[in-house]
Amino acid sequence: MKRILVTGGLGFIGSHTVVELQNEGFEVVIIDNLSNTTIDVLDNITSITGKKPEFHQIDLRIKNDVTSFFDNNSVDGVIHFAAYKAVGESVQKPLDYYENNIGTLVYLLQEMKNRGLDNFIFSSSCTVYGQADELPITENAATKPAESPYGNTKQIGEEIIKDSCKAYNLNAIALRYFNPIGGHESIKIGELPLGVPQNLIPFITQTAVGIRKELSVFGNDYPTKDGTAVRDYIHVVDLAKAHIAALKRLIDRNNKSTFEFFNIGTGTGSSVLEVIKSFEKVSGTKLNYKIVERREGDVTAAYADTTIANKELNWRTEKTLDETIDSAWKWQLKQKS
Ligand code: WQD
Repeated sequence: MKRILVTGGLGFIGSHTVVELQNEGFEVVIIDNLSNTTIDVLDNITSITGKKPEFHQIDLRIKNDVTSFFDNNSVDGVIHFAAYKAVGESVQKPLDYYENNIGTLVYLLQEMKNRGLDNFIFSSSCTVYGQADELPITENAATKPAESPYGNTKQIGEEIIKDSCKAYNLNAIALRYFNPIGGHESIKIGELPLGVPQNLIPFITQTAVGIRKELSVFGNDYPTKDGTAVRDYIHVVDLAKAHIAALKRLIDRNNKSTFEFFNIGTGTGSSVLEVIKSFEKVSGTKLNYKIVERREGDVTAAYADTTIANKELNWRTEKTLDETIDSAWKWQLKQKS
């Protein structure tokens, strides 16, 4: 049975990917420092799959701890989620983002190189494109100066991996996520933002249950269908399954170069107002929101051309926007408010 290290495996996307890995018969070992999640997620994963993943509470910024993990553990692949991911927050705290998102990546790759380990899947982001010139965004769209330090850490991360694959015979795939949202059908795992949510969907659902007073819509003067910014909202389980497809591609040596990257989205763009409308439809509740000024670091529109991912990974999304938002709503209703 192949053993896979999942860093950030108790986080939002990580936990859903651990479930899909176990469903596919992989043995999973998780590293997480619990900075943006809780240990309960480990039991919740176990209650879904019936298999408890091995767990190590390690902060990947501490190089010695990363080394000692690999002194005692061999793995057949690594899926690296552990990182900070809020576009807006990264503008306020750039050094935290560079330390956490770049430093940990270098330590992980050094350990893999030193021990001849292979098969690295990187959690990248559509933010590497900045504001793309053409929509939908294809993989050969130019990566543009990132509009936020978060996006910059993903661009730099991909460059580090590309150079490492070339120099050290490593095989890696970067998955450029669009906007992951929603939760597992079991309603046992989902998005657990600690503190005030940075992202749209958890802010919407927390507003609807009264935890937040009202949603601020960041700008309605964008050159889009209704003036609000457009994103490609993908169900987190569809996203998790893309990781399995990418990992199998590397393990089976079907990759066509040592470093590949794929856009992982639905291929459809939805505006903030369209998301609100979808939420009000699936929840049957009216959302309290107001329009305010734009948020620094935001782009006007980003949605994926998924042709290459569909073909090369033999993967495509299965969930509609309504189903995806409904899964986020069901998850919220289950939380203690
Ligand atoms: C979505 C839209 C906001 C909050 C995310 C992840 C990032 C990356 C890309 C994976 C924007 C608007 C938001 C609010 C609002 N994904 N908004 N009011 O910025 O696209 O980035 O996807 O790597 O990690 O963070 O997502 O949910 O913050 O914003 O109007 O209270 O909703 O302006 O148009 P974003 P988001």
